Amino acid sequence: MRTTEPTPLQAALEAGERAPSVCNTRPWNLSEERGRIIVATDPERLLDVADPRARELVISCGAALYNIRVGMRAQGSVPEVAILSDAERPGRLAEVAPGLAVPPDEESRAHAAAIPRRRTHRGPFSADIDDVMLARDLTAAAAAEGATLQPLTAEPLIRALSGLVTAAEHLHRHERVRTAELARWVRSAGSRRAEGVHAGDFPPDPDSGLFPGRDYGQQRIRGMLDVQGTVTGTVALLTTPGDTRGSWIAAGQALERVLLAAAAEGVAAAFHTQPLEEEALRSFIAERICGGAYPQMILRLGRPRPRGARPVAPSRPH
Ligand SMILES: Cc1cc2nc3c(=O)[nH]c(=O)nc-3n(C[C@H](O)[C@H](O)[C@H](O)COP(=O)(O)O)c2cc1C
Repeated sequence: MRTTEPTPLQAALEAGERAPSVCNTRPWNLSEERGRIIVATDPERLLDVADPRARELVISCGAALYNIRVGMRAQGSVPEVAILSDAERPGRLAEVAPGLAVPPDEESRAHAAAIPRRRTHRGPFSADIDDVMLARDLTAAAAAEGATLQPLTAEPLIRALSGLVTAAEHLHRHERVRTAELARWVRSAGSRRAEGVHAGDFPPDPDSGLFPGRDYGQQRIRGMLDVQGTVTGTVALLTTPGDTRGSWIAAGQALERVLLAAAAEGVAAAFHTQPLEEEALRSFIAERICGGAYPQMILRLGRPRPRGARPVAPSRPH
């Protein structure tokens, strides 16, 4: 155990390692080189079937980059970030150097404190984001990173999106190579491996209502996809104006900034990215729901309902 305060670089690296990532693949290589942190992709951890263009891999690395910035800033150094193009050094996404020494601001402190508290929620929520100020803060968090958090309020759009998530999930459960790929990243209860989704992290029953989760349980646990009930939580899309590698890095930073701002207020996110792994469905969502912007993530945000707790009355008609 360390007895001294971590240096800004150590704090930043540790924060980076705690970012969310697709299937908890942790598809990054974070290293220190000449006093700066290098954020590179780990191509060995690419999900070839689910994510052939490495979009979700790069979003995950973008989330790690945001944590690195926060970790450094909370230790009193202003991070100097250079986003690299693939042509410069393939696989290298960014470099972060500690810049000016300035005491941490309130937001960095709050986000740094939220890093260990943020966890993906897979299940129902007891409430939507009913706090107007928080909703505004989350939208601003995404905008500050060049992305848009688009909450869905129109019932027909929520229903349509839930149908597309369900359609993708049905197809994915039917696709052997994909379920085999997913199975490689599912860890049994008691496994000590850091990466992968652990059995304790997904609910044993399909309790996400109309937004089904990925089948981490490989049907042994969940049984057939049985979609019914209500939508809990605020459904939101994270979009970017472009769809380049730079857009995905921005989306990852925006995602983590939103998640940490939410976690600081006791709000968690559930992810339903399945239809974004089907190009036709993704284009459809872009055109019909996102006004032409590129959807990068599909989320439900809210206060997690403890397992076994009775549902509260839905906040909108179903
Ligand atoms: C790009 C991306 C896509 C994700 N897609 C899903 C998803 O479809 N379903 C899900 O339950 N979690 C999804 N997650 C959440 C990860 O599974 C989660 O971050 C990882 O297991 C680590 O757990 P933690 O977030 O609790 O630290 C996604 C995360 C990222 C960054």
